[in-house]
This record gives sequence, structure tokens and C-alpha cells, in this order.
Amino acid sequence: MLEAIGLSKTYDQHPALTDLNLTVNSGDVYCLLGANGAGKTTTINLFMNFITPTSGQAKVNGLDVAQGQGVKKHLAYIPENLNLYGTLSGLENLQFFAGLGGEKPDKASAEELLRGVGLPSEAIHRRVNKYSKGMRQKVGIAIAKAKQADNLLMDEPTSGLDPQASNEFAQLLSNLRENQVAILMATHDLFRAKDSGTHIGIMRAGRLVHSLKSEEITLGELEQLYLETMKSTVYA
Ligand SMILES: Nc1ncnc2c1ncn2[C@@H]1O[C@H](COP(=O)(O)OP(=O)(O)O)[C@@H](O)[C@H]1O
Ligand SMILES: [Mg+2]
Repeated sequence: MLEAIGLSKTYDQHPALTDLNLTVNSGDVYCLLGANGAGKTTTINLFMNFITPTSGQAKVNGLDVAQGQGVKKHLAYIPENLNLYGTLSGLENLQFFAGLGGEKPDKASAEELLRGVGLPSEAIHRRVNKYSKGMRQKVGIAIAKAKQADNLLMDEPTSGLDPQASNEFAQLLSNLRENQVAILMATHDLFRAKDSGTHIGIMRAGRLVHSLKSEEITLGELEQLYLETMKSTVYA
């Protein structure tokens, strides 16, 4: 479970995130929408404890991330730009990065993980620098799965994916959901948010302006609400 409680981050008087309150339960996929600069990455970085909040708390399974101890093992993270080693194969990348976070998977289980996320068998032992973005993304998801964390944070995971890769990504998301992972992701993809998200938040200028269940709204209504939110005046 992920919880933000009055979570705020200010840089030299400039509020990047203001009084965020949200909960992501096991099996929820919470999609954060909002223009560039809205505070999505700041939110994720606070949950990862990459940055320290100005006030409020980010909690993972009830533990305050700023307290450090014992929290990281509950969290998997896929950044916007996944930096894999181009000269290593998908399998070697998975073994290396999963090994950093804990136990290095043996060859057989690494292969199984990569097949499980839909990486073509012929690609598993090929160098990553020839992979498509979708294939790299799958390695990222395999790394996250290897960790067996019950919370997953993703920053714009579908940006730059073609529709087929994006669809495959959605299938992996639903698989993670079934495994009771709590997922928080930043995205610009309204369609994917409505389609794969259980909850949708719309942020503007560091504030969560709307938070709703994706079943409560049609894709057309979501687009309308998003556009209206972007137009509305901000009161600091
Ligand atoms: N390290 C930083 N120093 C100063 N301002 C920052 C820093 N990181 C983010 N910001 C500001 O915080 C706001 C939110 O940024 P960010 O969370 O990256 O937005 P998003 O991911 O929604 O595009 C922006 O106005 C951005 O310029
Ligand atoms: Mg961002």
C-alpha cells in the first residue's frame, strides 16, 4: 500500500507538490495525469525517497519512506528512461540489476521471467542496444518482478511505445494487479489510464485537483475533465 499524507515539496519558494493525499491499495493501478511540471515525477521521487519532503509523509506498507530502514524492499521502480547496459543481453541486464536489489536470479529463472513478460525467446540472449523501446520496457518490468515487491512506481512507462507494445504493457499491468501489487504510475496517456487504471488523478501545478475511479468516467468525459482542469485558474 502507498499513502501520501499532506505530502509537499517546495524548491526555493516554488511549490512542486502541495498537500498531496492519496492511497493506492494492493491491486490498484493509480494513474497520475497532468501537464509537464504538474508534480508527477516529484510525487514518485518522494515515494522513492530520492528527495525529502518539505512537509507530510510518503508511506509504503505503513512505513514512512523518509525513515529509510526496511522500506526499499517493498518498492520496485521503473524510471522514465531505463538505463540498461547496451552491450549486455536482456538476461545479463536482468541478472545484474535484480542482483543489485537483492538476490541475483539464476539463468533458468531469469529466462523464465523474461519469457513471462513477453520478451521473444530469440532476444533474451541478444545485446540490449538492438532492442526496441517496448523490449527494453519488458526487461524493466522483469527486473521489477524479480524483486517481488508489492508496490510498483512507474514514471511515464508508455511514452514512446507503439500501440502494440503499449497493449502488451497493459496486459503486464493487469497481471501485476492480479498479483496484488499496488501500482502508481505517471502518464500522459488518457486512453491507457482509463483502460488499465483503477483510479485516475489529475494534477495541476503541484496539486491533485481530481481523483476518481476509472469506472466512474468514460474516456470522452476524462478527456473533457482533463482539458477543463488544464484551463482552470490556479489559486496558490
Ligand atoms: N530539482 C528541482 N529543483 C527545482 N525545481 C524542481 C526540481 N524538480 C522539479 N522541479 C519543479 O517542480 C515542478 C514539478 O515538476 P515534476 O514533478 O518534474 O513535474 P511532472 O513530472 O509532472 O512533469 C516543476 O515546476 C519543476 O520545474
Ligand atoms: Mg515527470
